[in-house]
Amino acid sequence: PVSTPGTPPRSTVTDKYAYAFDIDGVLIRGGKPIPEAIEAMKMLNGENSYGIKIPYIFVTNGGGKTEQERCIQLSQQLEIEVSPGQFICGHTPMREMAEKYGTVLVVGGEGEKCRVVAEGYGFKDVVTPGDIIKDNQDTTPFRKLTEEEYKNSRSRDFSKINIEAIFVFADSRDWAGDQQIILDLLMSKNGQLGTRSETFDDGPPVFFSHNDVVWSASHDLTRLGMGALRLSLEAMFKAVTGKELNTTAFGKPQIGTFQFATRLLQQWRKDTHGIDSPPDTVYFVGDTPESDVRGTNEFNKQSENTWYSILVRTGVYQEGTKPKFTPKATVDNVLEAVKHGMEREY
Ligand code: G3P
Ligand code: MG
Repeated sequence: PVSTPGTPPRSTVTDKYAYAFDIDGVLIRGGKPIPEAIEAMKMLNGENSYGIKIPYIFVTNGGGKTEQERCIQLSQQLEIEVSPGQFICGHTPMREMAEKYGTVLVVGGEGEKCRVVAEGYGFKDVVTPGDIIKDNQDTTPFRKLTEEEYKNSRSRDFSKINIEAIFVFADSRDWAGDQQIILDLLMSKNGQLGTRSETFDDGPPVFFSHNDVVWSASHDLTRLGMGALRLSLEAMFKAVTGKELNTTAFGKPQIGTFQFATRLLQQWRKDTHGIDSPPDTVYFVGDTPESDVRGTNEFNKQSENTWYSILVRTGVYQEGTKPKFTPKATVDNVLEAVKHGMEREY
């Protein structure tokens, strides 16, 4: 690129390759950036010896707030500008389910945030566990709503409502109460609270925004995640009804999430960099073999060898063990991951 005197040199953008980043355990841990993450982002934005910019997107299984809100937070944490056009979280693809169901139960997250997210996706009638406890506080013997929760919950007559589907958008803040309510619905006649099915096969379907059994938070050791709640719920349903419960999970490693990410990246490269052709390689940097490496490897097989998995040692995966799914490369941290991709390219 030609630069005129007085203006800083403009870096060119590569159309050959791109990056996709997992967030927890790669860029952020317990709300704080992983030290190398900020420099890694600078590198992608042109501060590298090749003087080029490399397009990138974020694909996290996390959630619990709107994409917009999460991007504002991520921009501050990583000292760059992150746009919803380059961001997918666990529940983003759930927006495609909004048309299909009438009344739905949305579980997880702080306060009313997930209700706001679901309504933003176009879900027509969103019930939360708080609404159910407000209507009948005997639902959860050991959980009383706080004054604020009571105020924010909606008054409904559940004897007239059929809940058609259950969506776990984010981690439950109260496993006991939320599981009781989900079980009540699963054992009901057609999603009507207060009823009991004779066969236990006419309850609503349950969707989880991802299936991570553990994840990397501020504690040194991994913490239980939504996949653990899913396992627990399936085991309880079996114990109480004697029947198998089949639930569905979105997020990584589902192929659909990687297809969604491919479309997002294509649009992002087009809108912000004017690139029309697909990249030869997408480097996916993740910390969880079961979600990030597995999904990338499986999707790679379907996408003519364009996705390349890089595992870092800053999150769920720790040195000394053999990852269940083998990445193309394992490096110490996200900065090394970015360097690894760049070195492969030149
Ligand atoms: O709850 C979030 C967690 O399970 C994983 O997030 O960014 O590592 O996909 P991430
Ligand atoms: Mg992660």
